[in-house]
Amino acid sequence: MDNISGKFIRVAVIFALVGMALGIKMAISGVHDQTQAHAHINLLGWVTMMLYGLFYRSHENAGQSRLALAHFWLSTLGAIVINVGVYLIYSDVPEGDPVAAVGSIATILGMATFAVIVFKNTGSDKPR
Ligand code: HEM
Ligand code: HEM
Repeated sequence: MDNISGKFIRVAVIFALVGMALGIKMAISGVHDQTQAHAHINLLGWVTMMLYGLFYRSHENAGQSRLALAHFWLSTLGAIVINVGVYLIYSDVPEGDPVAAVGSIATILGMATFAVIVFKNTGSDKPR
């Protein structure tokens, strides 16, 4: 299986580039209409995905399962979908609301999956 840590970190830097580009666009234009999308692309995309990636780097056994792959896809698709929804909402497209809701559910399911992985793989008796 491809290294899950590398997958998370590669996706994280893509989110960082998109989130920062949106921040620069707002800063240059002086129109801070997409602050929420900018914040969540950076925080759910860059920061959260990077933290997931670093966890799997320090707990390599934890990344060797189908559950870890499910965690990766729920988190990645969740962060994309939630931010598409939020971007639409703040572009005055009300249809963005259910899109953001679906993304939020995927995102929290991703975190719940991660919680299971953390509890299974941490503790002084667990190999890394
Ligand atoms: C090139 C880098 C960045 C630029 C140019 C930028 C620009 C901006 C701008 C223009 C706003 C709107 C401010 C406002 O209207 O109050 C903002 C808000 C915000 N940014 Fe960034 N940003 C950058 C990177 C980041 C990163 C890396 C993160 C997180 C890791 C981040 C997190 C946030 C958050 C949480 C807010 C909302 C703050 C609030 O609600 O008061 N930004 N940013
Ligand atoms: C399922 C995941 C999440 C959902 C559904 C969610 C939802 C929200 C909502 C509804 C707001 C208020 C937006 C508004 O005032 O219009 C908000 C703001 C904020 N959230 Fe989240 N959030 C999530 C995850 C996170 C995470 C993981 C972080 C940080 C690591 C974060 C950081 C923030 C910050 C800093 C703000 C204030 C931004 C601002 O006022 O511009 N959120 N979030």
